[in-house]
Amino acid sequence: MVLASRPPAKSSEASLAAGDLRQRLGSRVLVLVGMMGAGKSSIGRRLADRLGMPFVDADTEIETAAGKSITEIFAEHGEDYFRDGERRVIARLLEAGGMVLATGGGAFMSESTRLAIAERGISIWLKAALPVLMERVRRRSNRPLLKTEDPEATLRALIELRYPVYAQANVTVESRDAPHEVILDEIVAALAAYLDGSAGDRVSAARESSEDGQHDG
Ligand code: S3P
Repeated sequence: MVLASRPPAKSSEASLAAGDLRQRLGSRVLVLVGMMGAGKSSIGRRLADRLGMPFVDADTEIETAAGKSITEIFAEHGEDYFRDGERRVIARLLEAGGMVLATGGGAFMSESTRLAIAERGISIWLKAALPVLMERVRRRSNRPLLKTEDPEATLRALIELRYPVYAQANVTVESRDAPHEVILDEIVAALAAYLDGSAGDRVSAARESSEDGQHDG
């Protein structure tokens, strides 16, 4: 028996899928959410490349707006001040529209930010297990929240607190030690499925309201 195996996706197929997705997104912002070390910036940058969209990193924007690094903002003004800036910067970027936006790990914990993202964007949770995150955050010391005696315990506690909230994202993709291209393919497929589903929702909502109109008339 011969098993037909699927030929590898040709790059023209991939670019067709990307072009189609880009069109269906309109001015919506693709917002990457998830824990520190989940790969939001590195995957986000590559996703933007693939879709031919601009990429913006919210943390970099906050640093530019403040003229200080995140570490300095936390040290000199505290976390609440940072969160205020984060909310404002993300609201401004969502208004601008049409980009891939990587957010800092705490951003999606703000209800007003979640609402703004739901209105103007599509949220993608890059979900990663603790050992994957630990391995990645160990390499850099630029995360004020992890400057504790036991960063692993801190990360574990943040996971418990945040994962139920991240789970509200529109799309979830498992971030793991796999080639970036594999994760990107999964994100594009998940987004296409999400857009198919939400298009269905919009059609049935429109149908319901037009049927309501007929009952009224
Ligand atoms: C934070 C994550 C960081 C940065 C800040 C706070 C958080 O961004 O916004 O240090 O609360 O998880 P990354 O998720 O890009 O590391």
